Amino acid sequence: MGERIPLGSDHAGYALKEKLKASLTAAGFDVVDVGTHSPASTDYPDYAHPVAAEVESGRAARGVLLCGTGLGMSYAANRHRGVRAAVAWSPEVATLARQHNDANVLVLPARFVSEEDAQAILQAWLDTPYEGGRHAQRVAKIERTEAES
Ligand code: RB5
Repeated sequence: MGERIPLGSDHAGYALKEKLKASLTAAGFDVVDVGTHSPASTDYPDYAHPVAAEVESGRAARGVLLCGTGLGMSYAANRHRGVRAAVAWSPEVATLARQHNDANVLVLPARFVSEEDAQAILQAWLDTPYEGGRHAQRVAKIERTEAES
């Protein structure tokens, strides 16, 4: 079985999610599709939280989300400890989100990228390692406790 990777979208990302699911499956990933399973209108947090929970718990190392702008999904996913959900609209942004920010959830703005763009963004994010080094202290500072300002 390949690497477990949770995948979710709302209605705005549904068609593109199906395309990405096919390419991830073809590449050997064990895709956990948390929905949505139709183009009917639905609420993005219902899919952001299950994907982010997979990463927060360690059941999966990384996950993928799609909504219209990518924003709502990123807001909800980033409420989970240890989750760094990055909206990426180009392969360059996806590469930097991995290299500098160790992004463990990729969020695609489905209404603003073509399928070709989305596949290239996904591939860049999947293939790019975190650089660590000078970025490690900055990434560590993202997490905060309730006692901190
Ligand atoms: C749905 O119309 C849209 O609001 C949603 O997909 C997303 O863009 C929210 O951030």
